[in-house]
Amino acid sequence: MARMDLAEFLTGALAELDQKNLLRRLPDLQNIDIGFSRNTYLGNHFGASGSRLISGNHRLYARLERELSLWKKTAAALVYPAGYMTNLGVISALLDRGDLIILDKLCHASLIDGARLAQADIRVFKHNNPADLEKILRQSRNYKKILVVTESVFSMDGDRAPLAELTALRRQYGFWLLVDEAHAVGVFGESGEGLAGQLGMNGDIDIQIGTFSKAFDGLGGYVCGSRLLIDYLVNKSRAFIYTTALPKIILRKNLANLKKVQSKKQRRKLWKNINYFSARLGIRADSAIIPLLIGDEKKALALAEKLRDEGFIIPAIRYPTVPRGQARLRLTISAETTKRQMNKLLALLNQRRKNRALK
Ligand SMILES: Cc1ncc(COP(=O)(O)O)c(C=O)c1O
Repeated sequence: MARMDLAEFLTGALAELDQKNLLRRLPDLQNIDIGFSRNTYLGNHFGASGSRLISGNHRLYARLERELSLWKKTAAALVYPAGYMTNLGVISALLDRGDLIILDKLCHASLIDGARLAQADIRVFKHNNPADLEKILRQSRNYKKILVVTESVFSMDGDRAPLAELTALRRQYGFWLLVDEAHAVGVFGESGEGLAGQLGMNGDIDIQIGTFSKAFDGLGGYVCGSRLLIDYLVNKSRAFIYTTALPKIILRKNLANLKKVQSKKQRRKLWKNINYFSARLGIRADSAIIPLLIGDEKKALALAEKLRDEGFIIPAIRYPTVPRGQARLRLTISAETTKRQMNKLLALLNQRRKNRALK
């Protein structure tokens, strides 16, 4: 069966809405009295007062979305109230019963939940294994719409997706590709735009997801892609349509933090710290996330507790966040981690290693 082109699908869906007089556009509310459409019944004025299609849109949104699309080198962008909702809202709006979603085995819960909500068929390929993905693609010739989903930096393992191989498969098999850059933004790219940008692959990825909750230290999520994609989501993405917009104070903060994320100075400091820490631990770090694989859940908990006694909170990540028997301590390095902090933790971890080697 011929694969459906994403632009063709989006154009068709938008034309159908237009024909039925059901097409929605985000309103410009500048100099408009929204007094009869807000939900702030008691006259408080902190939040956005309503959803973006009703009374909650603001020019700050337009500014933020323009800045995001310039930064990500896409035609357009759309902001959601959280990264989780972005994944839920984007995937479930694009795919339906009878379609196929193929996810990397280690995809984040929000990506899996988006796929479940779509009610499409779901397949999973082995983690970071394009050959396994291709095997599934070869068995899936009868689907018109296939979405392949990955993260560029994996949230619990800190490793990077093979984006070059995945985009080559996209060209060959004509699927739509979604990449969640939640943990790559701020860490990779000339201006912190992520791994796709660093590799010059923005044009080969149909849907780029991000969140303001990691390197931005803000709130909200976003999707970057074609103008058609964003117009479609405004009309069809329930997690976008049926929720209240973000307060202006958050939008301002996200805009200000975008400048910080773009700053090279912090990124240089971050990589200096990552390299310092990983070299002294004798491991290779692919990103700011460093998993200390323990395996056994009980042992992972015991180590987390020991480190807590020494003054560090480093959570033991266990099933179902990671597969059974792959419990780990997940630590993150930042630009503001100090040498003192790193040396103290390194001493504890290296001591533990020595003790285990002696046993
Ligand atoms: C890969 C990935 N995508 C999405 C999210 C959700 O983002 P948010 O915390 O903004 O809801 C997270 C983190 O929680 C994540 O790790």
